Amino acid sequence: MRDSLPLETQRLILRDFVESDWPAVHQYASDHEVVRYLTFGPNSEEDTKNFLQAEISLQREEPRQHFALAVTLKAQKQLIGTCRISTLDTGNRIGSIGYCFSKQFWGQGYATEAALGVIYFGFQELSLHRIFATCHPENIASARVLQKIGMQQEGYLREHHWIKGEWRDSWLYAILEHEWRSVN
Ligand SMILES: CC(C)(COP(=O)(O)OP(=O)(O)OC[C@H]1O[C@@H](n2cnc3c(N)ncnc32)[C@H](O)[C@@H]1OP(=O)(O)O)[C@@H](O)C(=O)NCCC(=O)NCCS
Repeated sequence: MRDSLPLETQRLILRDFVESDWPAVHQYASDHEVVRYLTFGPNSEEDTKNFLQAEISLQREEPRQHFALAVTLKAQKQLIGTCRISTLDTGNRIGSIGYCFSKQFWGQGYATEAALGVIYFGFQELSLHRIFATCHPENIASARVLQKIGMQQEGYLREHHWIKGEWRDSWLYAILEHEWRSVN
């Protein structure tokens, strides 16, 4: 694993988005099944282009607090998904992560590998103390990823998100820096 961007894992490169990524992003961001539990989507082409523009402009933020990264296969350089880490509270050094992948690449350990990469980045490079994630109660695959990367289930957030016309609950998962260091 390299210390700064792009992040490199065994099979993946996690790099900043560029505008020409939009067709690959749109492939999963417009997929009803992929976005079922997400705050956005299914995207129109315009939504995806706007999303990319917003992410690209955040790359210039100083200090940078938001890293939405394109996850690409190292060998083929193909873009297969997104993995994000953001600093949400600088004083308390709290960050959050999220991810989403094209359906054809599900079930091959890519989300786990990418999430471990951004967690490494969060603790090692962003000096975070706590990294959390939330997932929809029915999103079993995502909950499993959060467990596999060493997060603990901390609680159940009731109706904390107004998404797509309804209040949504989430499981809250988190890992602390010393917990991560004890196994890394
Ligand atoms: C959630 C998501 C990122 C997982 O990606 P992935 O690359 O398939 O994840 P991994 O292969 O690393 O791990 C998935 C795990 O969930 C398990 N899993 C998947 N579906 C499952 C199901 N219905 N029941 C039980 N386990 C399930 C897999 O078996 C695997 O666990 P294992 O390694 O112990 O066998 C992917 O499904 C996705 O992009 N979903 C849409 C976007 C989304 O929901 N993002 C998360 C928002 S919180």
